[in-house]
Amino acid sequence: MSPATITQRERETLLSAARNALKRAHAPYSNFHVGAAVLTESGEVFVGCNVENASYGLTNCAERSAIFTAVQQSKADNLSIRAVAVVNGEELPCSPCGACRQVIAEFGQQAIVIFKGQQGYREMPIADLLPESFRLS
Ligand code: THU
Repeated sequence: MSPATITQRERETLLSAARNALKRAHAPYSNFHVGAAVLTESGEVFVGCNVENASYGLTNCAERSAIFTAVQQSKADNLSIRAVAVVNGEELPCSPCGACRQVIAEFGQQAIVIFKGQQGYREMPIADLLPESFRLS
């Protein structure tokens, strides 16, 4: 199967939505503000930010916040993710953590992930970021 792609315009829409979302980040402990935007196969866009907690382990990353919102609010019967973009307020390299990769894979085995790498923004299929992701089927 040929790898999925997104247009330049879709990429820019997602990055700009993610930048907007990071303004809502609740990150008083790390001060690292993160925003994410999800593009669904049905063309909807959902955003999320990181939400930290005084009990640090309860923190929710921006990517999972966006995906959980999509699960709840998408009008599609089955959520299928085409692409996810993640940005941070410092413009530091930041690829999705392992937990978020597994959650992205659950809803989009072909999903494209856009993130800041060591040399600028990169686009990678989730299957390359998380080979052999866990599935219960
Ligand atoms: N964080 C995200 O929201 N997404 C990522 O891809 C990496 C890390 C958040 C979690 C925590 O609130 C802060 O960044 C520092 O780890």
